[in-house]
Order: sequence, then C-alpha cells, then structure tokens
Amino acid sequence: MPKVTLVKEKTEYEVPVGANLRDECRKRAIEVYPGMARYLNCFGHALCGTCKVLVKKGGENLSPKTIFEKGTFALRLLNVGFEDEMRLSCQCKVMGDVTIETQPEMNLSGENFWQKPYPNK
Ligand code: FES
Repeated sequence: MPKVTLVKEKTEYEVPVGANLRDECRKRAIEVYPGMARYLNCFGHALCGTCKVLVKKGGENLSPKTIFEKGTFALRLLNVGFEDEMRLSCQCKVMGDVTIETQPEMNLSGENFWQKPYPNK
C-alpha cells in the first residue's frame, strides 16, 4: 500500500492504491483547507483551488494533472515558481509513496518568475 507522508503534521499513513488524496486526509482529520475554506470550498470539483498541497517528493506517484487542475487560475496565480509541484489534493490519486505539505504558503514572487529570460546575456 502506498504511504503518504505529511511534512507539517509529522505523520504518515498508508492508503489503498488509487485513493483520493483529499478524501484520505479528511478521513484522518488532517485539514487540507486553510481557514474558512474548510467550509467554503467546491467539495472536490477542482474549482476553488483551496485544497492545494505542495508535493515535496514522489510527484510521479500521483495521477497526472487533470484538465481542471491545469486550468485552475487561482492555483497558478498564487504559486508562481511552484506550478509543477503544487497539486489539488481533490484531483490526486495516490499510486505510490508521496510526501506532501498541506496548506502551503502562497508564493507570490517565485524564484522562476523574476529570472531574466536570457541569463547569460
Ligand atoms: S476542493 Fe476545490 S479545488 Fe479541490
């Protein structure tokens, strides 16, 4: 069974292959939503972007990004520089071991955002 490691909570748990990451966290009372988003969210329909998690390790062991996930404007806007590592937990199926950070900080600047387009010139 795949293992999900949570950095902030300093815990880990096993889930069945193909389990939904958001659902598995909520089953264990691990909150993926910040603040009032706990009550005001889209209930797993990839519309609100509030269930985001930062994938620290094992991103290849999650299902590929869905078209909804790629198009979530809030997720892209608020995480400049971490677009590839940031996932919507409601859209992730766990296929292998993964390490995640729940409720990650916003990254409004991002190390990639301010890079010069041609750094050697
Ligand atoms: S619950 Fe709204 S995007 Fe995941």
